Amino acid sequence: MRLILVSNRLPVTPQGKPTIGGLATGLSRFLDHWKKSGNESLWVGWPGPIDSEDGKSELEKKLRTEHNAIPVFIKQKLFDQFYNGFCNDTLWPLFHYFTSLTQITRDSFESYKEVNQIYADKVAGIYEDGDWIWVHDYHLMLLPAILRKKFPKAKISFFLHIPFPTFEIFRFLSTQIRSSILQGLLGSDLIGFHTQLYTQYFLRSVLRILGIENNFGIIPVEGRSVIAGSYPMGIDYNRFSDFANTAACKRKTFKIKTDKMKIILSVDRLDYSKGVLQRLVAFDLFLKQNPEWREKCKFILIIVPSRTGIRSYSEMKRAIDEKVGLINGDYGNLNWSPIIYQYKGFSFEDLVSYYNASDTILVTPFRDGMNLIAKEFIASQTETNGILILSETAGASSELGEAILVNPNDVQEIADGIRIALTMPEAERQKRNSFLKKRIHKYNINYWASEILKDTNKSISNKTYSKTTTLQKDDWKKIISDCNSKAKTIFFLDYDGTLRELQRKPEDAYPTEEILNLLQTLAKEDKFEIVIISGRTKTFLESYFNELPIHLIAEHGVWWKQPNENWVSQFQSQSLWKEEIKHLLDEYEARVPGSFVEEKDFSLVWHYRNADPEAGLKYSKELLDELFQISVNSGFIVLPGSKIIEIREFGTGKGRIVNVFLESKNDVSVIAIGDDTTDEEMFQSLPESSITIKVGLGDSFAKYRLAHPEEVRDFLKMFV
Ligand code: UDP
Ligand code: G6P
Repeated sequence: MRLILVSNRLPVTPQGKPTIGGLATGLSRFLDHWKKSGNESLWVGWPGPIDSEDGKSELEKKLRTEHNAIPVFIKQKLFDQFYNGFCNDTLWPLFHYFTSLTQITRDSFESYKEVNQIYADKVAGIYEDGDWIWVHDYHLMLLPAILRKKFPKAKISFFLHIPFPTFEIFRFLSTQIRSSILQGLLGSDLIGFHTQLYTQYFLRSVLRILGIENNFGIIPVEGRSVIAGSYPMGIDYNRFSDFANTAACKRKTFKIKTDKMKIILSVDRLDYSKGVLQRLVAFDLFLKQNPEWREKCKFILIIVPSRTGIRSYSEMKRAIDEKVGLINGDYGNLNWSPIIYQYKGFSFEDLVSYYNASDTILVTPFRDGMNLIAKEFIASQTETNGILILSETAGASSELGEAILVNPNDVQEIADGIRIALTMPEAERQKRNSFLKKRIHKYNINYWASEILKDTNKSISNKTYSKTTTLQKDDWKKIISDCNSKAKTIFFLDYDGTLRELQRKPEDAYPTEEILNLLQTLAKEDKFEIVIISGRTKTFLESYFNELPIHLIAEHGVWWKQPNENWVSQFQSQSLWKEEIKHLLDEYEARVPGSFVEEKDFSLVWHYRNADPEAGLKYSKELLDELFQISVNSGFIVLPGSKIIEIREFGTGKGRIVNVFLESKNDVSVIAIGDDTTDEEMFQSLPESSITIKVGLGDSFAKYRLAHPEEVRDFLKMFV
């Protein structure tokens, strides 16, 4: 298979140097493996600033042949507004909870849209059927939907490398921007996050902003089922551990350790989210509170330059420089400098040697999507068995529980962490690291990517009911002429959501004049037989339809009333379960404001259409769970419907009654229309030749689909 990987940055600079940052380093290693397994790949992205316009085509050729990379060139001004603007002055600080640094302007969002379109055009130029398109990170959140529009059948995954924030933070973005971002992402087949929490926050935003519910992470979007899930990114464990065990690494490590001092390491891109300044304050506190450690340890502070064109970054650099100077001035002497500060990027080999030589590493970001450095450090441990001090707000903390976990805002906790790490007995260090190593080894970068690919494929094949096709106006006439060839046509019509639009309060969904006239006109014809088949009570149906010459079926098949006859029960039972379940539903009614319980002869219904959508969804899942647990051999079945949960006597149902109805009928056509789960039983049990029609979105066993009740009424009018 060919993978088209799309990210803002390419993994190499125009000068051929590797790009720094978790996304580029992590994915490059996965691609090595991907290619070794006989697959192809292309990486689409920005190559970084170029020296002159003239060299573009030369560079394009070089990147393509040497790195399978396709550069996206963007005019400098537009790129500034996109990258320094919307990406790094809006999304990055906001998604890392730095609301005071977040700047939101409509202009920069316009640039974001424009650049996403440029990427889409680039991908469209190379896309071939069967390719897997994998889009990465916050720079390109609109891209999946643009691509989906162009290639409805394409296999598209998206992965977010930074945190997805809580709804309260996400809603800082204007209504238009936040909806566009969510809709953009939903163009994918799969949307991956580093942790379960980020996934939950995303799903909550989708519900609250777009009003789309999910079923355990599966989101229905225009006939597709999009999976949102957590896939913690791993590293190429063997590459780190293998190099750490080489003689070359031992030589480098030896040089770093010459003075026999304990080493406290810190490696980050220069970014305010990484909490470097706070870390220095904590080191200062550690030296103050633990004078015995002075001249016995050194802090190697590696900072890789990043996003230098943004003010908050250059200000951070100045503050760090100052603090390093102060600490070295306060505690240092001619023989000892507490902090060795290096402001540059290191090669893989040098980095592993630093990891390997260190007794502990401080990974204390305020927020971090994952943080791969934490994992790389553990994978590079050999004799020293260095201890990881990790922020509980880094995504990695949910997997690396054996680290010393600290709150990055609490400098005392970090200072204590340093002391604990430096004095931890060897056996304990070994034990902790062996657990961590096993986990990081197993859940490595290839495992991560293969899970994402596996679930993307699953998401595509999830369309189990995709045979339901939209009933086009051209088909209507054909259906009518087929019906005319039979002696009679029987219409099984559900009521709420089918003939009549759903209303917030069920009592408001009374039949309009239009509906009554339509039914009256159809029923007058001898060749038609109309059956309203609903979950409503006898009383409701009777109060509106009694005068019409039609059949009424109430409570999903429990009661049947032929024209001008009395109601006949189709079912005898004592509903022994009802009292107990009513009690349970009453509790939910009390817990969820706006929800209520409806009691019918053979069923109970908990309605939550009027409740807060999120509370309704949350408690409906809880209730379902409880009901399913007690439903075994209890005489009832549980039917989740459209914002309702119905608990019904076993053996009742629309599926059974339609067959009873048809028993004595010959030479008939059947048309059945419904919108709800209860109608699915009817669609399933009707004879194969029936015309079954699902109203609205969602999976269905019906053959056809109509969009809404108005379309149903138009369709029925064609028979008049
Ligand atoms: N890195 C590097 N050279 C350096 C410092 C860091 O190659 O001098 C790499 C490091 O190996 C890691 C990545 O940069 O893979 C940083 O990823 P991380 O997820 O920790 O943070 P990010 O920079 O993506 O926020
Ligand atoms: C983080 C982001 C990446 C980004 C990297 C380096 O890891 O998630 O998308 O590439 O930082 O940042 P830069 O702005 O230099 O690309």
